[in-house]
Amino acid sequence: MRRSELRGDGAGRAVLVTGCSSGIGKATALHLARRGFTVFATVRKPVDAQTLASLSLPDLVPLEPLDLSVPGHFAPILARIEEELEVRGIAGLYAIVNNAGAGPVAPIELLDPADLRRELEARLVGPVRLLQALLPLIRKATGRILWIATPSLMPIPYVASIHACDFAANCLARTLSIELAPWRIPSIFVRCGGIRTAAPQKNNRQLEQALASWPPERASLYAEALRRETAALAAFDAKRTDPERVAETVCKALLSRRPRRVYRVGHLSRLAAALELFPQAVVDRIMLRRSRG
Ligand SMILES: NC(=O)c1ccc[n+]([C@@H]2O[C@H](COP(=O)([O-])OP(=O)(O)OC[C@H]3O[C@@H](n4cnc5c(N)ncnc54)[C@H](OP(=O)(O)O)[C@@H]3O)[C@@H](O)[C@H]2O)c1
Repeated sequence: MRRSELRGDGAGRAVLVTGCSSGIGKATALHLARRGFTVFATVRKPVDAQTLASLSLPDLVPLEPLDLSVPGHFAPILARIEEELEVRGIAGLYAIVNNAGAGPVAPIELLDPADLRRELEARLVGPVRLLQALLPLIRKATGRILWIATPSLMPIPYVASIHACDFAANCLARTLSIELAPWRIPSIFVRCGGIRTAAPQKNNRQLEQALASWPPERASLYAEALRRETAALAAFDAKRTDPERVAETVCKALLSRRPRRVYRVGHLSRLAAALELFPQAVVDRIMLRRSRG
């Protein structure tokens, strides 16, 4: 009997998680490694790879650099994965967890196109490139593709780059489920409500810098709305869910024999999901009313 059948866990299976320097990615990588998966935890900076390595988890394999916006990073990462799978005697890669992302806060009128491009690269172009590199290994393991995403497809003001990527990722994932059906490779969404990570503080810092750099006559048009939004978010931040809950949900989606198309986890994730049942015009009106306070 194989080790994985004995323990009913991840042993004998390898997964790759992107964006493991902090937050959801890090919590997921550590959780899965503790559950016996071999985890390729990708990060952009050597210091983050060193931090992960210092945890001395035998099934955690930090890989760097993988910046999803840098085409040259993919081939060396693939080579490292193939090498490590060979050493560990594991046939193929069981899953990719597309987690990395860091969209800026800005009204679309003032959104820096370079920031928008970075988010598109991290959330869409990079994951497609990664998938293209890794699909032969995923096929070998009859694996799965997971997408960490926002709780529902909604037009949320001032974070359009994040939510626009979610709409597009939704399309990519659903199309992949059809195109890869002959090999029984599903795409699975883990839709997250408010999760307690470093992202809100990073966003606040980034917004402060942006406010100072935007032309004052345009920035002033949004100052009051952004102040209201920041205050509302501060109250929301206090209720965020521990990223460990996301890690457990990812683990469930990986271990389930018949995984669902969508898993939901985190503060307000179910309420937000309910919005998807309404016509778009109704959702837009709800979001408009909410933005007026
Ligand atoms: N927190 C929430 O409430 C929440 C809710 C729903 C969905 N999400 C989604 O969950 C994901 C993780 O967010 P988080 O809250 O855990 O934030 P986080 O702690 O800030 O982690 C973001 C991770 O993405 C990495 N990253 C950003 N751009 C990248 C790129 N171009 N290439 C490779 N890695 C990149 C970051 O690396 P560096 O450290 O090198 O910057 C970091 O490891 C994001 O996609 C986010 O949209 C979060």
